[in-house]
Order: sequence, then C-alpha cells, then structure tokens
Amino acid sequence: MKGLFITLEGPDGSGKSTVANLLGEYFEKLGIDCIITREPGGTQIGEKIRDIIVDNENKAMGAETEALLFAASRAQHVHEKICPSLEEGKVVVCDRFLFSSLAYQGVGRGLGVERVKMINEFGLRGVKPDLIIFFDCDPTLTILRKTKAGGDRLELLGDKFHERVYEGYKEIIKMYPENVEIVDARRPIREVYKEVVKLIDALLEKTEGLK
Ligand code: TYD
Repeated sequence: MKGLFITLEGPDGSGKSTVANLLGEYFEKLGIDCIITREPGGTQIGEKIRDIIVDNENKAMGAETEALLFAASRAQHVHEKICPSLEEGKVVVCDRFLFSSLAYQGVGRGLGVERVKMINEFGLRGVKPDLIIFFDCDPTLTILRKTKAGGDRLELLGDKFHERVYEGYKEIIKMYPENVEIVDARRPIREVYKEVVKLIDALLEKTEGLK
C-alpha cells in the first residue's frame, strides 16, 4: 500500500484526540493529503456501533460481545476508509486502533491478548500501522477529569479497570514492539505535540514520494 498509517494509543484522557486534530493542520501545511479518523467509529456504520458500545444503558453487555463490536467497527473502518485512503497514497491518522482492543478487552476485561488479536485479524486485511504512538500517562488523574462531567460506559468502569488497561498497554508494547514509539504524555499538550511531530518527520524522511 502506498500511504502511511499512523495510530495514536493510550489511556482515556491522554491527549490523543487533541494531538490528532493538530496533526491534521500539520499535514495540510506540508501539502500532504491526510485523513484524521477515530475508533470506535470512523464510518457511519462504525459510529452506530460506537453508540451501542458506549451507551450507559447497555449494562448487560458481555465482554465478548463488546470485543466483537469493537472488532466489527474496526473491520468496517478498514474496509470503507483506511484501505481505500492508503491505496490513494494518503496519510491516515487514527485515534485508537488494534492496541486499544488488546489493552481494554484483552487485558482490562481479561479476555486474553491473543484471543482478542485473533478476532480482530479477521477484519484487518493485513493492514498494519507504520507508526504507533503510545501516549504514556497514568490514567487515574485523567479519567477523573473525564468522569466529572459524567463519562460513558467504559470511562465509568473505575480506577482498577483503567490501571489494568494501562499496565496492559505496557505488556502489549513489550509483546509487539514493532513500529511503536512512546511519548511522555504527562507534559503540557504543546510539548507532547512537538515530540509527536518529530516522530512523524522522521517517518516522512524514511518514506519516499509523500513529501
Ligand atoms: P474514545 O473515543 O477514545 O473515548 P472518548 O469518547 O473519550 O473520545 O473511546 C471510547 C472508549 O472505548 C474508551 O474508553 C476506550 C474504549 N475502547 C476499547 O475499549 N476498545 C477499543 O478497541 C477501542 C477502539 C476503544
């Protein structure tokens, strides 16, 4: 595939979404075609699946169902948006991807990293990120900020769950270190963004035909 696939990963409230939007402006300035997208969601069908997943009324949802819904949203995203954009030579920046399912469902929900990876691979068509940026910050403070205003079904799962997810991310990075870069996300967002830009510049240097 011709484009570049960059994913942003990390705990809730680690600043990924803000950085994703700033990256959109950055690529525009460089004159590089880029799409900013997110998971769960990213397509019309995916956004409907997202609504089911985050709905606080869906308390009866089983962990396996949750994992399959995330995988279904991702499969649609790959089919409808990620693959076609990469084929067209675009840069795709995705706020959360496979590592989120491995950390939240595999470790957080206790379904097992390998099993969750397997159900996801069915819908991935072999797509792999060229760069995975992990926003490293302890979730206990950031999640507090988010849940003050209410919070969705997953955000409200409590400190213990989010600590497990964070530890899970670190395990997963050790298991699959390929193309992973870690950014210290406890710093002010501008500094985090600057470091992310450095990583992206290095990737662009290595990639012919985009700049
Ligand atoms: P996100 O969009 O990052 O949260 P926000 O609404 O705050 O922007 O993701 C919604 C929730 O879904 C978040 O708690 C992380 C969780 N999640 C998983 O559990 N597994 C996944 O595969 C993905 C993509 C997200």
